[in-house]
Amino acid sequence: MDRIRIVGGNELNGEIPISGAKNAALPLMIASLLTDEPLVLNNVPRLADVKQLERILENHGVDIAVHGRRLTDDDEAGQQMTFTAQTIVDTCAPYELVSTMRASFWVIGPLLAREHEARVSLPGGCAIGTRPVDFFISGLKQLGAEIDIDEGYVVARAPKGGLIGGTVNLPKVSVGATHTIMMAATLARGTTVIENAAMEPEITNVAECLVAMGAKITGIGTRTLTIEGVDRLHGATVDVIPDRIETGTFAMASAMAGGNVLLRGGRVEHLQSALDILGQAGVDIAQEEGGIRVQRNGNGLQAVDVDIDPFPGFPTDLQAQYMALMTRSTGVANIRETIFENRFMHVAELARFGADIRVEGQVATVTGVPELRGAQVMATDLRASVSLVIAGLAATGETMVNRIYHLDRGFERLEEKLRRCGAEIERVPG
Ligand code: UD1
Repeated sequence: MDRIRIVGGNELNGEIPISGAKNAALPLMIASLLTDEPLVLNNVPRLADVKQLERILENHGVDIAVHGRRLTDDDEAGQQMTFTAQTIVDTCAPYELVSTMRASFWVIGPLLAREHEARVSLPGGCAIGTRPVDFFISGLKQLGAEIDIDEGYVVARAPKGGLIGGTVNLPKVSVGATHTIMMAATLARGTTVIENAAMEPEITNVAECLVAMGAKITGIGTRTLTIEGVDRLHGATVDVIPDRIETGTFAMASAMAGGNVLLRGGRVEHLQSALDILGQAGVDIAQEEGGIRVQRNGNGLQAVDVDIDPFPGFPTDLQAQYMALMTRSTGVANIRETIFENRFMHVAELARFGADIRVEGQVATVTGVPELRGAQVMATDLRASVSLVIAGLAATGETMVNRIYHLDRGFERLEEKLRRCGAEIERVPG
């Protein structure tokens, strides 16, 4: 298994191109199931999760074409891909394909809407909590679906004539349930209202894609989405938004290592809350024409408390990276995780660098230390793994990050992007 080797201590200086957002690309790809016409997506990142979803969609009968170059090392522009689901040949998403990635469960929405039936394996994904699917099930039931669980599969059937619009009130903000119910409702008869909907920028990207495909959706970007069902959707061409989690990750890496970096393509409005906290911690942030400039000012890092919340709050997908950053701050930072109950697995690994972190319930208390020391560490989930890279950039000596397949699921050419800015980092094949 490949590993990543880092020798810490170098500043980061230069430009880092931000790739298309994984969490937008995946549901946009899934939206292609809603129409028999081609859906063209620009700026699709080259990631293991994207490839895995390609396999799942192909199994349903989606024809996938990649235009231009693919997977060359120095390719900065995202891929342009066309997804054509002319005929759905199979409405089952099997365990072997769904178990490695939770988002693949979301195909249940479009399959049910278009084919009036779906049999989808219960999902897998990062082990960051129990991550149930009860909101999906109760939401689809509100649209008239009949749902059973059978041998690890969710089996869903729409009423004769298709789904029927209804009101879905999500008990807790859920990105996946919002995507899925919104997609299902586009082809339902009548009007659906999703209350307490997620309003993450990726939801907006998908909602705008659905509108470009002929869907009728209002309230985009708010907690209440109203979807008036239409008979059919058609093809469209849509850009995947820049990855705000990748942007925030590199902002924290730059803050950790010091230096001056332009995050090319990054959008401040997609991660204002995280950038505000970084500002309070002593990092200079400026929106420039080409992206976001991040510079560590001369005063060192101050500890700042953070509550993790759904958008527009501080994202849970940046919690581990922020914790890595706070290990080198002056003072004590309390980080409260409110979204996933088991998202502190990186704490034990950060401790291997000499970090001082205590966890009590949902709160991690980080007391800054004057020095981190390089160590052998293990990636436990996607975002946690990159927090270890961030710690390694500031640690003295050598760090070896094991099990980096998690990183490849969600970060495009991570080591190369950092190396170009001066980091001593390499992939060690194994
Ligand atoms: C998405 C993101 C993930 C991010 C998360 C929260 C993608 C591909 N993944 O994951 O990177 O960390 O949003 O921003 O976009 N819940 C239930 N029942 C359900 C559904 C969710 O209890 O049926 C709970 C979850 O356990 C969690 C909370 O709701 O506690 C939010 O999860 P959700 O927003 O659904 O996360 P994902 O969509 O899986």
